[in-house]
Amino acid sequence: MVKVFKTKKEVRSCLGSLQPRERKIGLVPTMGALHKGHLELVARALAENDLVVVSIFVNPTQFNNTDDLHKYPKTLEQDLELLRGLSKDILVFAPEVSEMYDSGVASRSYNFDGLEKVMEGTFRPGHFNGVGTIVEELLTLIQPDRAYFGEKDFQQLQIIRKLVAKKNIPVEIIGCPIVRESNGLALSSRNARLPERVRKEAAFIYKTLKAAKAKFGTKSAGYVVDWVRKQFLAHPDLELEYVEITEVNTLTPVLRKKKDQKYRAFIAAYANGVRLIDNIALN
Ligand code: PAJ
Repeated sequence: MVKVFKTKKEVRSCLGSLQPRERKIGLVPTMGALHKGHLELVARALAENDLVVVSIFVNPTQFNNTDDLHKYPKTLEQDLELLRGLSKDILVFAPEVSEMYDSGVASRSYNFDGLEKVMEGTFRPGHFNGVGTIVEELLTLIQPDRAYFGEKDFQQLQIIRKLVAKKNIPVEIIGCPIVRESNGLALSSRNARLPERVRKEAAFIYKTLKAAKAKFGTKSAGYVVDWVRKQFLAHPDLELEYVEITEVNTLTPVLRKKKDQKYRAFIAAYANGVRLIDNIALN
């Protein structure tokens, strides 16, 4: 049976009673409206641990846009059904906001050494303080051996790695590849808000990233970034918010390519008022 817990106390007492404590715990934090991208993280966690905790919590402090928060899909029954299909041995933690933020709905302030100052950090002020607050809280509560995050939110993944290093939290952070629709569109809970036609159009984001990757082999980062901007200008259904090419660890924009460094390209764009993000490894 997939067990569902609503309170921190219940989770703590259930995990605390596990014998012996050598059993490995994997944590998959989510905001629900689960899709195949989330399920891949859970499947990997199940394969690598004895017990998997999936948290489902639409975290208000990481939304800088109240409209986006209110429109965020909530499908708990369907989520539980999907998890039941994967394994009977999953523990779901699905608290209310008042349970999670029992001393006030506010986030702590973090210094992620600049990782929080670019891209999503620029366009979603306060977002990573909200993410840091909830993930730190979940890691402290569940005390997993491993925690799983998708490369779909690559900046978030790097920020969680930084959080864990800075706070000395004893957990292994595992990054998992992006799961896509057959047309290339990265799966996202927000895709449910796209009409069929726009959903097809949105595949253009990944198509452009792949073309950018091909160009990056021979052209400068500046050239490729300009080229991507031009492609979006010719595609008015998708409004580009940013395109960046950065070094993978510091997320600083590439000025001059270096041989032994790894780079990634990032895009955020609006389709029908829905904000979509995607990224690709360039080398
Ligand atoms: P959410 O958007 O629900 O995503 C939960 C996890 O699933 C994240 O690690 C995300 O990167 C991963 N994920 C989403 N779509 C994916 C895809 N197409 N392929 C691979 N992985 C994918 O990210 C969050 O929630 C929140 O910020 C959270 C970490 C739970 C903190 O509130």
